[in-house]
Amino acid sequence: MKVAGKPMRTIWLDADGCSIGVIDQTQLPHRLEILRLTSLDDMVHAIRTMVVRGAPLIGAAAAYGVCLALMADRSDGALDHACQTLAATRPTAVNLRWALDEMVAAVRNRPREERLAAALARAQAIADEDVSICASMGRHGLPLIEAIAARKGGARVNVLTHCNAGWLAAVDIGTATGPIYAAHDGGVPIHVYVDETRPRNQGASLTAWELQQHGVPCTVITDNAGGHLMQHGYVDLVIVGADRVTAQGDVCNKIGTYLKALAARDTGVPFYAAVPSPTIDFAMVDGLAEIPIEERGAEEVTHLTGKAADGRIETVRIVPERTAVANYAFDVTPARLVTGLITERGVIAPTRAALAAGFPDLLPEQGLPPAPSAKP
Ligand code: MRU
Repeated sequence: MKVAGKPMRTIWLDADGCSIGVIDQTQLPHRLEILRLTSLDDMVHAIRTMVVRGAPLIGAAAAYGVCLALMADRSDGALDHACQTLAATRPTAVNLRWALDEMVAAVRNRPREERLAAALARAQAIADEDVSICASMGRHGLPLIEAIAARKGGARVNVLTHCNAGWLAAVDIGTATGPIYAAHDGGVPIHVYVDETRPRNQGASLTAWELQQHGVPCTVITDNAGGHLMQHGYVDLVIVGADRVTAQGDVCNKIGTYLKALAARDTGVPFYAAVPSPTIDFAMVDGLAEIPIEERGAEEVTHLTGKAADGRIETVRIVPERTAVANYAFDVTPARLVTGLITERGVIAPTRAALAAGFPDLLPEQGLPPAPSAKP
């Protein structure tokens, strides 16, 4: 996507060939800061502190993290250490594990002198594949928006989205934003309601920023306003991202997504999740029972960072001292509340059969895990 008219990705191999460039997303929307990462520790820190975040980008970052590790040491021990350390940064987005498995497959059986080149080639390919996957999801999701525009006689289509599943959460284009940018660029009148997405405000600080950069009309709302807007017919469609989708179509995404799905079901608003195939975890079935949900630090809830009137970036406390805090970062929307999954191979139903039929090449060799017995 373009920033100030210049094409930009969220992550890249620097021209010096020995460092990884990233946008420091903790400084947005107030500052566009580029960081140069030169070691495995740098990348581990960047993922853990959410300098880079969003499932597809976490995957690409992990791949480049393995490259940084191999720049220092190409031994098996170094490779294993890099994978273990990167895998331990954040537990929920399955793209992380997927990318590490891809890197090990590309490097493990190579002689040491070939490992770095093989790793860089695979990491670059993972980044490029992510961009083409998002472009394809944009193409497959576009007809959903066009159909609503046609039904509304050309009046603008109002999409609600939660968190940031845009190009900042991927390498470029974005997952949930893929159809939105495709519609906007295709002249379909579109407007986006952007959930602020407490506690880290990825919607207010990242989604609003990137939509503005591209000229897409948007309105930031509090997380609790979405249901009200749906009740009053202001929302035509919900499109969210995903951090892990199980074999039966349960969707894990940013905390608060489940509540949007409930409101959408109650008000008859279609609810779609944009899911690139690396985010599908065919080893899991029952999302509620099986997906690890990250819990993050209390300070993300007790404090808020923003720009003061004099331009300084400040962090202030908003919760009384010594208050107990719980900070769950993700939740699971059961497949029964999902209208469809926008994937790079088309829009498919959130069911075991449709996922298996849509991605036969990704099924576990031993077959799909058994379906959980029907709950009483
Ligand atoms: O905690 P984050 O910012 O990494 O959470 C990001 C999300 O939940 C996104 O919606 C998801 O990763 C999809 S990104 C295309």
